[in-house]
Formats: sequence, structure tokens, C-alpha cells
Amino acid sequence: MKIIKTKNYDEMSEKAASIFISQVNAKPTSVLGLATGSSVLGLYENLIESHKNDKLDFSQIKTVNLDEYAGLSGTNDQSYRYYMDNNLFKHINIKPENTHLPDGLAKDLHAECKRYNSEIANLGGIDIQLLGLGLNGHIGFNEPDDIFVKETHLVDLDESTIKANSRFFADEKDVPRQAITMGIQNIMHAKKIVLCVSGKAKASILKEVLFGEITPKVPGSILQFHPDLTVVADEDALSAIAL
Ligand code: GLP
Repeated sequence: MKIIKTKNYDEMSEKAASIFISQVNAKPTSVLGLATGSSVLGLYENLIESHKNDKLDFSQIKTVNLDEYAGLSGTNDQSYRYYMDNNLFKHINIKPENTHLPDGLAKDLHAECKRYNSEIANLGGIDIQLLGLGLNGHIGFNEPDDIFVKETHLVDLDESTIKANSRFFADEKDVPRQAITMGIQNIMHAKKIVLCVSGKAKASILKEVLFGEITPKVPGSILQFHPDLTVVADEDALSAIAL
């Protein structure tokens, strides 16, 4: 595991973006595994800048996102499809058909999980996977559980996740109770993983994830087994870890 400690959120975003920029330049046909949330927003701004100023080319890039809320359409401003379209895709030269997210409106959500799982395989696997970290240690929407779920699945969101994510919704009752998420195996099969973590509130869970017991009760702890994990985190997020 490699840990890159940054002064603040902006530096974290720049450093993490530079890893993705190198990936796109080195392999213009890469499959990028992408994430949503506030931790990765700055990274996307850097990618957009790099596309505008340095002609970073996404024309052959394919993307596959970690997760999507059940019951929200892609035009709902709280859906992860909407987030990706507006915070990245529409600002770069990626082909819309090369961007993949689960369909939160699918009639049969279990069938949609199966379809998405095959889609990841059909893309040939993920070259580099971006991750944020939930306050309860979740990655994607793999919530604390008794087992690690391997493949894409439908998940009941934790009360704590519903609370944490309610900050983006008008009312807590508007937060969907279920989501489709890639499973732990989908994530762990990525050739390279970049985990972005920022802020004091994540300091203790980040310590558990990186140095605690490997257990499905702390889903992110499985990342300790990944052969190519880079953690890009700011001083606040790393404040519980002596480096
Ligand atoms: C959501 C997403 C996760 C994300 C997490 C952290 O629940 N499903 O993929 O990593 O939130 O979000 P933030 O970066 O906003 O703290």
C-alpha cells in the first residue's frame, strides 16, 4: 500500500487526478472505475481542466461507476448518473455510450445487478478504480455486513449512510433506502485502486480500514489485500495514523 499525504483537499484532488491523467495518457483505451461523493469532486475538476488545457483525450476511454440509488432516474439531480454527467462527462470528450452506471429505474433490480456484473466483465475488467470512503467504512455501497458480497448486488442502505447522505437531499425521507453497488470482488479485481479520503471526520475509520482487522464489518478493510492500492488523503484524514 502506498499512502500519499497531502496538506488539504485541493492537494489531494490534484495528486489523485495526476494518477488518473497518467493512466489515460499511458493507455488511452483504459476502463476507469469511477465513484461519486464530495471526496472525488475536486479530482473530476482537475480532469476537466486537463482536458481543456492539455487536451487530455477521453475519446476511447470507458467508464464504469461503482453504484446507483434504486428508484432514481438519471435526470434526478440526486442520482449518480446525474452527478457523473454534470460533474465530469459533459465537460470532456467521452462518448456517452462508453459511460456505464447501474439503472436505478430497472423494473427488476436483481436482474439489473446481473446485467451490470456482466457488463463489467464484458468491458474486460477495470484498469483503475477510484474510491471514496463512507463514515462507516463502506466502499461503493458495500455496507458493514457479516459477509463480503462478491458481485454487483442490491443493498439496503445503513441508517448511518442514509443520515450522512441526507445532506444532499431536501429531506431525509427523500433518501432512497436501497442502492445497486458493485461487489467487493468487482472492486478488488481492478488492476489498481486509488482511495481518496479527506477531513477529520474520516480519521478514525481510515485508520481502521488501513490498519485494523480485515472484516466485512468494515468493508474497506479488504483493501489491505489489494496488491496495488494508493491512498491519497489529507493531513486531517490521516491525523489518527502515525506516518
Ligand atoms: C456515498 C457513495 C460512496 C462514497 C461515499 C463517501 O455513500 N456511495 O461511493 O465513497 O458516499 O462520500 P463522500 O466523499 O461525500 O464523503
